[in-house]
Amino acid sequence: MKISSIIDAKEKRVAITPETVKKYIKLGLQVVLPKNIGANAGFADSEYISAGAEMKKSPIKDADFYVCVKPDLSKKLDLKVGAHLIAMLSPFKNKETLEKITKSGINAYALEQIPRTTRAQAMDVLSSQANIVGYRAVVEAIFEYNKIVPLMMTAAGTVRPAKALILGAGVAGLQAIATAKRMGAVVSAFDVRSAAKEQVESLGATFISVDSDESGDGGGGYAKEMSDEYKKRQAEKLAQAISESDIVITTAQIPGKPAPRLITKEMVESMAAGSVIVDIATETGGNCELSKQDEIVQTKNNITIIGDSNLAAKIAYDASQLFARNVFNFVSLMVKDGKIDLSDELVQAAAIKKAS
Ligand code: NAI
Repeated sequence: MKISSIIDAKEKRVAITPETVKKYIKLGLQVVLPKNIGANAGFADSEYISAGAEMKKSPIKDADFYVCVKPDLSKKLDLKVGAHLIAMLSPFKNKETLEKITKSGINAYALEQIPRTTRAQAMDVLSSQANIVGYRAVVEAIFEYNKIVPLMMTAAGTVRPAKALILGAGVAGLQAIATAKRMGAVVSAFDVRSAAKEQVESLGATFISVDSDESGDGGGGYAKEMSDEYKKRQAEKLAQAISESDIVITTAQIPGKPAPRLITKEMVESMAAGSVIVDIATETGGNCELSKQDEIVQTKNNITIIGDSNLAAKIAYDASQLFARNVFNFVSLMVKDGKIDLSDELVQAAAIKKAS
């Protein structure tokens, strides 16, 4: 059985690395990859070849498995009937396209559909990518911020530390808190889930509480949509915190829904000149009213709003290493004793159901 991948000009990350090539070979698969597959992420063809892969001119049409990051589904996939495509497929957004793909005889598996359970942690690409994106969001903010982040006491006087506010304390948010703390910022954070308070405080940040008995827990570590009354109280609390912050990182999401709007134009205008907002949720509409997907917005009062929806591509090497390990762990559930076995519950959960 053969495993391969598809080159995607829009994506710097790769779903297969020299490290995982070795693991696939141990699993009994032959690895045949398009030339230059890992070039943009920092993996040379020679490294893949040393690991045991065969490199061929793109496209490779006869593989049984294709592992990708986010293939361009607007283009026709030239794969053999019966092939298994494993990738982030945005099943909500691409419902019709995926129906067509499965109807044409391709078996598609959306890695986003893997449940966030303990057993599935090793293949949870959403978490592995969000984690490092939380880190990168802080790096991006600091790069644009024209002041110093940590407290500095110098002979020429004291520089006060920057105040960072993290909205949404899930996977990306917690890593953003930890990174901002390491950089020396004074960090506070907000989340609607009650469990987040303890996690935020364990990282040494201050948790902003909204005066309400309503719980935001939607099950499985995810949030649910809040009532209008809660949103009003939350907005009052956040308005105050945002006006006092130098750096704001927003990561709030409710799965399958548009990103909750947490920062209004007025709140942005209340910030001091030179402040920076990084909205990592722009792919689903953004947490900030003024953010634009994949653009850097500069407001009249000199606030920078970064809306990069693929920050993982800026750390493509490590993002690929983690992604590729997640994908290998998933594929290893599908191969038993040299044969394809689709019975595992996690494989079933990821499978795009064939339209009848
Ligand atoms: P997560 O589900 O682990 O965390 C989201 C958090 O937002 C949860 O803790 C939830 O309780 C909280 N939340 C929901 N509604 C809220 C509200 N109204 N106020 C405050 N908090 C609220 O999600 P994860 O994995 O951390 O991803 C966060 C976002 O980052 C998602 O929108 C995801 O699509 C995006 N993302 C962006 C990337 C990029 O490169 N820009 C890469 C990876 C993820």
